[in-house]
Amino acid sequence: MIIGIVPGIIVENGVVSSYEDRAVSIRSITVKNQCDILCNQIVKEGYLDDPSSETLNGEFTMLSNLYSGRILVIDRNFRVIKDTYDLDRGKYMISAEVLNCFNGEEISNYDDNNRYIEMTVKIEAPNSDDVLGVMLVSISTDEIVAGMDVLEKKGMLLVIIIALLVLVLGYILSGVLVRPFARVTKSIEDLTDGYLEENISVPDYTETELITDAFNKMLARVKALDDSRQEFVSNVSHELKTPLTSMKVLADSLVGQENVPIELYQEFMQDITEEIDRENKIITDLLSLVKLDKKAADLNIETVNINNLLELILKRLKPIAAKNHIELILESFRPVNAEIDEVKLTLAISNLVENAIKYNTENGWVRVSLNADHKYFYVTVADSGIGIPEDSINHIFERFYRVDKSHSREIGGTGLGLAITRSAIVMHRGAIKVYSKEHEGTTFSVRIPLIYIA
Ligand SMILES: Nc1ncnc2c1ncn2[C@@H]1O[C@H](COP(=O)(O)OP(=O)(O)O)[C@@H](O)[C@H]1O
Ligand SMILES: [Mg+2]
Repeated sequence: MIIGIVPGIIVENGVVSSYEDRAVSIRSITVKNQCDILCNQIVKEGYLDDPSSETLNGEFTMLSNLYSGRILVIDRNFRVIKDTYDLDRGKYMISAEVLNCFNGEEISNYDDNNRYIEMTVKIEAPNSDDVLGVMLVSISTDEIVAGMDVLEKKGMLLVIIIALLVLVLGYILSGVLVRPFARVTKSIEDLTDGYLEENISVPDYTETELITDAFNKMLARVKALDDSRQEFVSNVSHELKTPLTSMKVLADSLVGQENVPIELYQEFMQDITEEIDRENKIITDLLSLVKLDKKAADLNIETVNINNLLELILKRLKPIAAKNHIELILESFRPVNAEIDEVKLTLAISNLVENAIKYNTENGWVRVSLNADHKYFYVTVADSGIGIPEDSINHIFERFYRVDKSHSREIGGTGLGLAITRSAIVMHRGAIKVYSKEHEGTTFSVRIPLIYIA
């Protein structure tokens, strides 16, 4: 808007003031020419000695009327011999301008405050530079100024018209340009009210299509996150409720009976204790999972001897393995020291070894091996167990996922172990892979950088 109006005003001012300059200079030149002609006549008719010439006086009057000005003729003695206003005749006029003119320097000044042009014209002797007298002329420029006012008004009108045009055009254009984005905003707002249910679509403009595409991609991610969060919450509630339901059933059946034998009491109480243990285990696992979901900055990185770490894990799990008649083997191919969070990595590997023991067969084996290259160390946990069906293998890292719910329950899992393991390994910028064949066995292989990358 300003871009349209400001130049308009500047141009208008420029036009008006240059008109003024030109009009004044044309007027000055015209008057000067007339005066020069008069000067010639003055000399010719000897007007300076005898100012009674009818013709010349008539011409002076005409000239001064024509330009609404005043003409003074001054002779060599600085005496005013003619004044068209008849005020100063006979008086002496010794001003700087007149003096200068006698010295050959004519002037032509424009006084734009009082609106008149003042000029001096020398009356020269023919064929010589002798200055015989001076004509002092002042003419009004009211007319020019009046013309300028008209011009200025017209210019102003033009500027106002331009400004209005710019305003209207600007309004229309900005509407056209902004409309697509306003529609996108509106769509997004509609969506926020309805929350995540559908995609937005403003396909009428290329620009908006790009924006909406990007927005829809982001939306899809948010939806996925939201879905997994909801699923997690419902899983958690379900898992936490199951032991409670069992306890309630057990307790109810005791309360509902009279004269319950002490043996039954003991048996049911035993079952209730087991359920409590289970509930406790689920909560413990959930808490470690939540802890692992936090920022990687929470890692407590130290240089740890991995051989020792694995030995300790196996030692701790040996009793469970022995109970199931399972052989635990550790193979270390070289000494390995790495920068890791000892507690979290112990948790991760323990879960793998625990699974290998739990999902094994009678008289089976579990082999844990450690190797390293210049960049990573590798831990594999292989077992001779029941294996994982092919269609389940992609799900085993999901929270609460268990291949065989009833069987696993008997074994006493929560379905959170592998989720915890994977989180811990990912926090170490590592990777985990699984190979398995049903009824033959399973191998988990873990790769972790020797030097922690923050
Ligand atoms: N070594 C393994 N052999 C066979 N199946 C396994 C093995 N490790 C894990 N699984 C399967 O993956 C599921 C998820 O394991 P995990 O997350 O540790 O939960 P859980 O608490 O049931 O052990 C288990 O329920 C089991 O079905
Ligand atoms: Mg487990």
